Amino acid sequence: MCGIVGYIGDKRAYPILIKGLSRLEYRGYDSAGVALLEPGEDIKVYKRQGKVIDLTEFVNGSSTSGTIGIGHTRWATHGLPNDVNAHPHSSGDGKITLVHNGIIENYAILKKELVNRGRVFKSETDTEVLVHLIEDVKSKSGVSLVEAVRIALNRVHGAYAIVVISSDDPNKIIAAKKSSPLVIGMGEDEYYLASDATPIVEYTKNVVYLEDEQIAIIDRHNGLRIISIGNQEVSPYVQELEMQLEELEKGGYEHFMLKEIYEQPHAIKDSFRGRLNAKEGWVSLGGIKDYEEQIAKSDRIIIIACGTSWHAALVAEYYFEDLARIPVEVEYASEFRYRNPIIRKNDVVIAISQSGETADTLAALKMAKEQGATLIGIVNVVGSTISRVTDAGSYTHAGPEIGVASTKAFTTQLVLLAMMALSLGKRRGTITDEKFSLLLNELEALPMKIEKLLESDSYIKGVSAIYKDARNALYLGRGTSFPIALEGALKLKEISYIHAEGYPAAEMKHGPIALIDENMPVFVIATQGENYVKVVSNIQEVKARKGKLIAIVTKGDTTVREMADHVIEIPMSHEFVVPILATIPFQLISYHIAVMRNCNVDQPRNLAKSVTVE
Ligand code: G6P
Repeated sequence: MCGIVGYIGDKRAYPILIKGLSRLEYRGYDSAGVALLEPGEDIKVYKRQGKVIDLTEFVNGSSTSGTIGIGHTRWATHGLPNDVNAHPHSSGDGKITLVHNGIIENYAILKKELVNRGRVFKSETDTEVLVHLIEDVKSKSGVSLVEAVRIALNRVHGAYAIVVISSDDPNKIIAAKKSSPLVIGMGEDEYYLASDATPIVEYTKNVVYLEDEQIAIIDRHNGLRIISIGNQEVSPYVQELEMQLEELEKGGYEHFMLKEIYEQPHAIKDSFRGRLNAKEGWVSLGGIKDYEEQIAKSDRIIIIACGTSWHAALVAEYYFEDLARIPVEVEYASEFRYRNPIIRKNDVVIAISQSGETADTLAALKMAKEQGATLIGIVNVVGSTISRVTDAGSYTHAGPEIGVASTKAFTTQLVLLAMMALSLGKRRGTITDEKFSLLLNELEALPMKIEKLLESDSYIKGVSAIYKDARNALYLGRGTSFPIALEGALKLKEISYIHAEGYPAAEMKHGPIALIDENMPVFVIATQGENYVKVVSNIQEVKARKGKLIAIVTKGDTTVREMADHVIEIPMSHEFVVPILATIPFQLISYHIAVMRNCNVDQPRNLAKSVTVE
């Protein structure tokens, strides 16, 4: 949460910062701000409540000179999302200015101490403590700015990625991180800093991912130097980015979310590339190959995740238990990390995360590591923190996902977990050759089937229009379709602000049925498979209470068609891949309803894509 950027070089920093902030807006959009520095001048700070576009309107006409700059887009944690609390924050004398992503947990104690020493605070943020602390250390001990930052960070508890500039040191940018991400782009005599690589990719592909408790000192004349907060020299490890610039543009679609829904056939193909071949009958995940034997022999798999990724974990529980016969527990990372769980050495902990930066997932992983578990990551963002702290892992390769509501990241997580379960099942001998081959073929056919399904988009839009004014909605499914019901409900509520709940279809009788009347849309997954007859009974229960029924059915179904108000057909498929296919209509329904309700689809209120605070 919160996106930060920085630039030092020969170019004007302002346009680079603004473009970078727009790319990072998915991380928060409560307020935005920049600070610009030109040697010999004072630092200019512009900040505004609202989005980056509001900031640019505010700045319009003012001086934006400066070849050094820092910027911030905020998701408020401490203090209202107003102009004063917006970053950057400056020291009392205005000479030091910084941006911060994270939470300073001991800010209250530090603030009290600093106030007692006469420092005057302007905002309610935890961040402002940092800049006053740096100023305080510097003026008290007469040390350099870098040393003051280092000493200050040693006093801080919590999470931070910071970028600091000072008019007394006008050829330098200082950055540091702990638990929040920070990437440094290495250009020709110029450097870019950002919370992720998206603002950097168009300028350079050479990047350094700063590690926890490291401080980067970038000097216009002497380049990049990295030290630890314990003052040890560290050699920068330069990596090459794989990301393409076009992946970050809307490419003719009205919203990123729609583009990303339509990208799914392609994204899934990318997820399969080099890993699955149904004709030759193999599946192989290179990234976890060396650990597969250990996973296959583990006593238990614990999957931890948050949000949509947690729904993928629930589907994986069915996959792993059914195909590989390994016991699985699925946990919200935020609960797991705080409940003193029993973790044994022979447990494998799998973290699923689109961003690879979710604070709770990361903290849960660290805890599991301390207790000796083997850590595997299923991550989308290449080079992200989770991909680096795990022992091994596989990237979903969905490409950058910009829309806050996760779409292609989710379906590629599902295909990756399906591949993993098949591979483990094969190794453990818990799946027959016939079934293995059948399911490989089912997976491989997915991109083509999703293309077909997307052809029903205009019909789905028509159905969506009928329910756009609903105040509540219920989503039902059984087996692997239950997590998809949860995901359908989450998608609807997060982008259209309609209250929605997902339930196992049979559980409806234990509560939600009381809510059903002629105003309640009930979305149900009723595809052919083991649970079909049972779901049909649940549908009858809904109809008997006059609920409006929108059913996802297998192509050619007639039974449910007679009962439902609307049916959306998915191609005939084995139930193994139904969760992946059934997700698509729910994504489209949420998207269309949100657009019809004039909601900001790509940046829903109060949400952020990368949740780097607890
Ligand atoms: C946020 C996002 C969700 C995402 C969740 C977990 O809430 O808005 O789309 O599912 O975080 O994020 P992760 O990056 O760990 O999958």
